[in-house]
Formats: sequence, C-alpha cells, structure tokens
Amino acid sequence: MNIWDEELLKPQAEYPCLEFVRFVKRHPRFKTFLDIGCGSGGAHLDFLLDHDLEPTGLDSSPAAWPDVLGDVQDPDTWDRLGTFDCILDHNTLCHVERPPFDKIHDALNPGGIFFMVAPTEDTCIRDELRSRSFVRFTSEVEIREMLEMFSMIRVGYSEYTDHRHGGQVKSYVVEATK
Ligand SMILES: C[S@@+](CC[C@H](N)C(=O)[O-])C[C@H]1O[C@@H](n2cnc3c(N)ncnc32)[C@H](O)[C@@H]1O
Repeated sequence: MNIWDEELLKPQAEYPCLEFVRFVKRHPRFKTFLDIGCGSGGAHLDFLLDHDLEPTGLDSSPAAWPDVLGDVQDPDTWDRLGTFDCILDHNTLCHVERPPFDKIHDALNPGGIFFMVAPTEDTCIRDELRSRSFVRFTSEVEIREMLEMFSMIRVGYSEYTDHRHGGQVKSYVVEATK
C-alpha cells in the first residue's frame, strides 16, 4: 500500500472547489474533462456528471477507483488517454516532481484550458506524506515559466478554511489556454 492509498481511505472532500464550479459555468461549451489525481472523494467528478458533462478521473492509486489507473509522470499513461476540453488539477501536481505540463498541453483540444489549483508556499499545510521537503509552487513567476508552452496564462488566488487540516489555505488558481 503506498502513502496515497492510506491517505485516500480517510474521509475525502465532499464539495467541489468553488472556483472550478464558477469556471465550468463560464465555459458552457466544454464537455470533456480530465481530473488529474481525482482522489477517492469524487467531488469534482460527481459535480461534472450531475451537469451532464463527461469527466474522466485519473489517479495512480487503486484506492481512488479512477476511470484510468496511471501515473501522470509515466508517458504510457498519456498514450492511454484521449484529448479533453479541460484538464483539472486540484491539489495533485503540487505533490509531483517535474509535473508533465507538456503532456497536459498536448492532451488539450484546441482552445482547451488547463485549470490548476495549488497551495501557495505559505499554506498552513506541510506535505509530510513523503517525509521530505514538499513541492510547492513558490511564485507566480515560477508558474508562468513552467507553463510557457501555453498561449495565455491567468494566475489568481483563493483562500478558504480547510476543516480537515484545521487552518486557512491559500491557493493559486491558474488557467492556461492552449
Ligand atoms: C491531495 S490528493 C487530491 C485529490 C483530489 N484532486 C482533491 O482535490 O480532492 C492527491 C491525489 O493525487 C494522486 N496522485 C499523487 N501522485 C500522483 C501521480 N504521480 N499520478 C497520478 N495521481 C497521483 C493521489 O493518489 C491522490 O488521489
């Protein structure tokens, strides 16, 4: 059992991210969604299904019961996926070294959008899961550099109380267009 299998057996987020709900409302023509690291809660997948959209959940942990079981860092995973109107990363790539932004770019339909939510460095949560220094996006400049293959990048912020971890969480909310 890997660290994520154990983590995913705990209660998961019940509601989708409000910023993402607003985003979906702003893009009524988007139909196909890939949720990277969907987790076992399924809050975003359920939200999309409830609105007659077509989500695909990808996760490396069998405990998440994903539609596609695979590691985002493995090129074979991307060969097994199609293309999407939107790719969602909600608090997953912040745990992944060298996130595969080029693969994400390739897997977007023309005009598609990569929507990423990632904690800022000063979040109250420390990533102790892997017993080493955690991977966090440190600045807006760094995010823009990592996403340079996208044509337009918008970086916003959101702040909310995370009851599970007991504190205020500050996140970057990023939209990058192909
Ligand atoms: C912090 S949880 C986020 C879950 C969900 N997106 C949410 O916001 O509730 C991170 C998820 O990413 C998955 N994950 C971690 N590393 C991964 C990788 N390299 N490839 C695919 N999934 C990964 C874990 O199994 C876990 O379900």
